[in-house]
Amino acid sequence: MSKMIAGKHVNQVVQLREVEVSDLPTFFEFHLDPEANQMAAFTRKDPSNREAFDRHWHKILADESIPIQTILFGGQVAGSVLSYVMDGEREVSYWIGKAFWGRAIATRALALYLDFITERPLYARAAKDNLGSIRVLEKNGFKVIATEKGFANARGKEIEESVFILD
Ligand SMILES: CC(C)(COP(=O)(O)OP(=O)(O)OC[C@H]1O[C@@H](n2cnc3c(N)ncnc32)[C@H](O)[C@@H]1OP(=O)(O)O)[C@@H](O)C(=O)NCCC(=O)NCCS
Repeated sequence: MSKMIAGKHVNQVVQLREVEVSDLPTFFEFHLDPEANQMAAFTRKDPSNREAFDRHWHKILADESIPIQTILFGGQVAGSVLSYVMDGEREVSYWIGKAFWGRAIATRALALYLDFITERPLYARAAKDNLGSIRVLEKNGFKVIATEKGFANARGKEIEESVFILD
């Protein structure tokens, strides 16, 4: 049985915190999932390459221009949310472990991250058919400004992606 605080079950609370190195194996598992990779589309070439994953994560964790937060759901590691500057524009990105999908975790985590990162405008991108991610962005006030084409590693071909802005 979970405790109730302000009408919410404690074990349903979404929180952000700094990433701990011990979160990385969980993130790696999340990023291995084939369905998640299909959705996200613009993924790393080989999500099963643990060494490349660790190298990449240690590099971004050391980069102060890339604020990364671990998403907790009821205290469990449920995903990650981050932003980075690409061509002068700060873009947000997030990934929720499949076991945690469909519980408004991404929507809530992005809302918390938008309080944490006050810089505006912010940008985001989602494969045009990643309806979940598009909904998460729209619910947080992002608006589509363009459609672009790019090579999606997870699909092995060029696909359309929607570009979003939050002013
Ligand atoms: C996309 C993703 C972030 C959604 O996370 P989530 O915590 O399940 O999302 P939420 O529960 O907050 O759902 C938000 C909305 O999207 C909808 N949604 C979620 N997944 C969906 C899907 N696969 N298809 C259609 N709608 C979906 C929900 O119904 C909800 O809409 P509603 O509030 O109108 O009912 C998650 O599936 C994920 O991490 N996928 C893999 C990585 C990825 O795609 N990252 C984003 C890269 S751009």
